[in-house]
Amino acid sequence: MAEKKYLMVASLQLGRTYSCYAFSTRHEFKEDPLKIHVNPVWKTNQYMSMSTPTCLLLNKDKEFVAFGYEAENEYAEVILDGETDDYYFMKSFTTLLHNNKDVTDDMIIKDVTGKTLPASEVFRLSIKYLVSHLIQTLDKRGEGVGHEDLKWVLTIPSSWTETAKHIMKLSAEKAGIQSDHLVMVPESASAYIYYQTLRSQDNKQKQQDGAEYMVVNLGGFAADITVIKRQNDKLIESYHTTDNSCGSTFVNKQFFHIFDEISGESVMKNLKENDPLFYLDIEREFEAVKRSIDSEMQRKISLSIPIVALDKIQKFTECLRKIKHLKYLNGNIAVGLLGKVFRAQLDMLIAATEHEERMADEQKGINSKRCRESR
Ligand SMILES: Nc1ncnc2c1ncn2[C@@H]1O[C@H](COP(=O)(O)OP(=O)(O)O)[C@@H](O)[C@H]1O
Ligand SMILES: [Mg+2]
Repeated sequence: MAEKKYLMVASLQLGRTYSCYAFSTRHEFKEDPLKIHVNPVWKTNQYMSMSTPTCLLLNKDKEFVAFGYEAENEYAEVILDGETDDYYFMKSFTTLLHNNKDVTDDMIIKDVTGKTLPASEVFRLSIKYLVSHLIQTLDKRGEGVGHEDLKWVLTIPSSWTETAKHIMKLSAEKAGIQSDHLVMVPESASAYIYYQTLRSQDNKQKQQDGAEYMVVNLGGFAADITVIKRQNDKLIESYHTTDNSCGSTFVNKQFFHIFDEISGESVMKNLKENDPLFYLDIEREFEAVKRSIDSEMQRKISLSIPIVALDKIQKFTECLRKIKHLKYLNGNIAVGLLGKVFRAQLDMLIAATEHEERMADEQKGINSKRCRESR
């Protein structure tokens, strides 16, 4: 039977830290394969981003309340109202599927308070949210594309077992995506194809058969390192590993660790428990600042902290004034320590990539030796 001519391809990503979607129409793809639309930006008070945190809020009847930034906002209110027992809040829940050989169809996810839910239901509700968000976006754009005309792509990391992929596929189907409209594509292969398309548009030479590329996917919790080889016009994953020591969220952790060092752990803990909205503001402010930094940047980096939060944590502000490398100016803190926050992660990332390169080379050496011996 001839392949159905879909009018649009929509791709969903339920990442470990952030989730998002993108789409491309058939006629635009024909004109320019790189004409890909991402979802309209998700916003917080501090910044806008093209993805939203992978977190889900359900009520006590396990019904959907919110996803992403909205779920974070609403859960902060829930904490303030002392109603955490009446809600389920799950964050970064796809982490469970990574490098986990013990994944089962009936696995359980714990929310932040320890209450349990079937993982497949958490995935279903999250995918359903992304799907309906996308459909709304298409409606607003006047695209008029129905489910029948959509081909769905779920991008997944290479570290997932077949069972993990199966759970996600079933969850997507239960979320309303028809199984014959759905394909699961490794993230590394998507990045590789995107890069190759870009190269071919730049009139660069097409990749030779047998050539290998290392795709290093830097996420919030890990660096996924994959070696992809093109052989007889097929893509083969010749090597894959995950380095769990160099995710970008560790930079944020390091930053909060410095706050703890300055103010004492209990001050920040107290703020998190008693003023979760302010704590969230600080987390998001740092995330925004982190994303704005590039390697060429020479100027001082400013971090705005809500003045109310500063007032609430008296002890913290007193400590700040004592610290030499921090200048406290009308609620803005110019941080000279920021380099320290990034350095450790960067060193680990470089070491991990070099190590994997050596491993891949050694592996190749072993394989070619075996080949020679078997001749
Ligand atoms: N411009 C940027 N500079 C530094 N870190 C970034 C930038 N954009 C995103 N990040 C970080 O990348 C991580 C998210 O990566 P992403 O691939 O979206 O998520 P996932 O972990 O779900 O795969 C987050 O920790 C985020 O802080
Ligand atoms: Mg990612």
